[in-house]
Amino acid sequence: MAERLVVRESLEELSFLAADWIREVAEAAVRLRGVFALGLSGGFTPVRTYQLLADPKAGPPLPWAATQVYWCDERCVPPDHPESNYGLAFKHLLSRVAIPLANVHRIRGEDAEPARAATQYDRLLPPRLDLLVLGIGEDGHTASLFPGSPALHDHVHRAAAVVAPKPPPRRITITPLVIEAAERLLVLAAGEGKAAAVARALSGPEDLDACPAQLARRGFWLLDRAAAANLEEGMHGR
Ligand code: 6PG
Repeated sequence: MAERLVVRESLEELSFLAADWIREVAEAAVRLRGVFALGLSGGFTPVRTYQLLADPKAGPPLPWAATQVYWCDERCVPPDHPESNYGLAFKHLLSRVAIPLANVHRIRGEDAEPARAATQYDRLLPPRLDLLVLGIGEDGHTASLFPGSPALHDHVHRAAAVVAPKPPPRRITITPLVIEAAERLLVLAAGEGKAAAVARALSGPEDLDACPAQLARRGFWLLDRAAAANLEEGMHGR
């Protein structure tokens, strides 16, 4: 059962709520522990949320000096490549805020040996992220954990080099260990193409190999109306 399931009319509305909630979780983490370890997702869906987190008119800034940023996955491309998840977050968020460079822990997608980059990233990851932002693919993947991926059964490493069925194929992803250890999960999904996968992730029979996004079932799911279309009435609140 999801910690919370909220549906908004549009991606724009969903993004405002996501940014506000991330601010609250960040403040609470810093108050409690003095640090906020944030894992970012790649993909298109969180872009507007990232822009809002960087916009002083949209709300107060995150406690950037105390925020440590990580990623749930990376494509095997250089950081300035249009497909880079780091590049995306840098462009829309990190380059626009006062985060110390030392607080940004990217996955080295440009490494000619992705397995080595995965090992390095495993060492960089903290024991537990305070908040991990995730997306979901139409096939039910999350991070770069695709259906049937051997990485879904890696209970030793926290990052793995994988070959994805979706371009770009070579990627580095967190393993289920990181999702399971995260204090909070925020899953963002928008658009009708996601409706079937969202329903399978939240209310389908448990089968991680078929729908890896079930790993995030316990999280806060924030959907637009189209992505929530296949959920049963009554499952979602406001
Ligand atoms: C990536 C992701 C991936 C993403 C989903 C949804 O690197 O592609 O981290 O898990 O979140 O594919 O992507 P969209 O938001 O673009 O639909």
